[in-house]
Amino acid sequence: MSVQSLLSYALTVPELKAGQKFYTTFGLSSGERDGVLAFRCDGRDQDQVFLVEGRKKRLNHVRFGSDDKGIAAIRARMQQRGIKEIDAPHNAFGGGLWLQDPDGHPINVRPESPKPWRSAPAFAINSPGHYQRAGQRGAPDRHAARPHRLGHVLLHTPRLDQMVAFYIDVLGMKISDRVPGIISFLHLPGGGDHHVIALLADARAGFHHASFEVASPDEIGLGAQQVMGAGYKNGWGFGRHVLGSNFFHYLRDPWNSLAEYFCDIDQIPADGSWRPGDHPPQDSLYLWGPEPGDFALNFEEA
Ligand SMILES: [Fe+2]
Repeated sequence: MSVQSLLSYALTVPELKAGQKFYTTFGLSSGERDGVLAFRCDGRDQDQVFLVEGRKKRLNHVRFGSDDKGIAAIRARMQQRGIKEIDAPHNAFGGGLWLQDPDGHPINVRPESPKPWRSAPAFAINSPGHYQRAGQRGAPDRHAARPHRLGHVLLHTPRLDQMVAFYIDVLGMKISDRVPGIISFLHLPGGGDHHVIALLADARAGFHHASFEVASPDEIGLGAQQVMGAGYKNGWGFGRHVLGSNFFHYLRDPWNSLAEYFCDIDQIPADGSWRPGDHPPQDSLYLWGPEPGDFALNFEEA
């Protein structure tokens, strides 16, 4: 019994307007809730990102969904380990169970189910022996990329092993794959995306990126074009990861953290048949794509 879904994340940022412009350019819709900005994906009745004003950019919290039984089990494991409950970092975020991970990030687990997200047509490609789109043009009309859902959050951490242990032993997540000493990918106990939390070793804690699912590689390209066309910095992409297998393109937000468009991420079955692997360092980042440049750097202020 444990967390069952990733619901949202919140950032503290020095300028709400700048954050609103970035995330709406990225393809999310914004609204206001009790003095904080909330962002949603079209067709999904669920807040996925919150922005709160504060002195410098940092992760405000990560919110998971569970049920009463799951929350009671997490609370019991906290008691065994002497982990205290904390107050919500902002009145707008009250409710559910609040605790801190070993890096001090506030974590909220609340009795809430993830809301359905809109589906997309299957992505059909012509490949040797499988010309499945005969008679149809493949290039879509030009259109704005609109993410379907939040997929995962990646954090820098100076205590990788402790953080992994917390997310597994206290919150009940499972390891998907890892590059020992460098990065660990964690999935939900009920399966689903290859990772909803990833932890990257660094000298300092920090928010690295959050990732949003789009319908196809075309949507990744169209999205990157719309964000860079609005004057934002390229992060890294277009490419394909090894661990998770997703196609990706990352864009820099106004504070040098990243928002990622992804599609085609590996799905982990709920039956426990996935075998986590230890992978070589070269698999940490990508199978192919441009040189990563400053992609993996931690830009969070000390
Ligand atoms: Fe990612």
